[in-house]
Amino acid sequence: MARRKKIYEGKAKIMYEGPEPGTLVQYFKDDATAFNAEKRATIEGKGVLNNRLSEFFMKGLTQIGVPNHFIKRINMREQLIRSVEIIPLEVIVRNFAAGSLSTRMGLAEGTALPRPIVEFCLKDDKLGDPLVSEEHITAFGWATQQDLDDMVSLALRVNDFMSGLMLAVGIKLVDFKIEIGRIWDNDFQRLIVADEISPDSCRLWDIETGQKLDKDVFRRDLGNLTDAYTEVARRLGVLPSNVTHATKPTLIN
Ligand SMILES: Nc1ncnc2c1ncn2[C@@H]1O[C@H](COP(=O)(O)OP(=O)(O)O)[C@@H](O)[C@H]1O
Ligand SMILES: [Mg+2]
Repeated sequence: MARRKKIYEGKAKIMYEGPEPGTLVQYFKDDATAFNAEKRATIEGKGVLNNRLSEFFMKGLTQIGVPNHFIKRINMREQLIRSVEIIPLEVIVRNFAAGSLSTRMGLAEGTALPRPIVEFCLKDDKLGDPLVSEEHITAFGWATQQDLDDMVSLALRVNDFMSGLMLAVGIKLVDFKIEIGRIWDNDFQRLIVADEISPDSCRLWDIETGQKLDKDVFRRDLGNLTDAYTEVARRLGVLPSNVTHATKPTLIN
């Protein structure tokens, strides 16, 4: 069988040419990075879990009418997606203070915010993904004012969906990051949610215990990352409840 053409290899995923124009195959690796890739590790089973979880969230978003790139899952590590022109911004939504917001504002982690706050960071590893304002975004032409309005509204819909889903399984959605891309339907362009939604890109805390169930487990050396992600998947019903380890792929297919 001919090998697929690799288009891009990033920190967590590889993009291959898709079977039809306008599609890509997104492969989820087991690689974990943090602090702008200063900290790295291979975490067995992470890619399989994120592929499954991103599928679950994207399908749910489709069901409530939030457009996104997901087409179908191909196998344990790969999914078929629509190819988009990525807007070079990380769109962050925060419900509670944590991470860089806590540092910047001097807020204790976990402080409830007065309302969800949307932030934009420039997607540029060399610069460390700096926080940028709407003024920077429109002046430098990364997105138009109309794009920004659409991005905020997409991000807030994702926030409501994800917050409700997590609340139902005893998890607090502290914050998350999404990427958004542009597609063309004939001459009509619109923005859709792309990349991934997974515990790599969310902060998820157990409501009762405060236990972290997201990539902070890796960033802050708090335990086994695969166990944390498996717990999220198990609670959401993405994995059968008797699975304790994601390192045995056959169990979760
Ligand atoms: N639907 C899509 N079409 C085109 N590019 C995408 C799509 N979804 C995600 N991407 C891009 O593919 C890459 C995914 O790989 P990842 O390992 O996350 O890369 P990075 O290290 O750049 O974050 C990212 O650069 C992301 O912006
Ligand atoms: Mg990425």
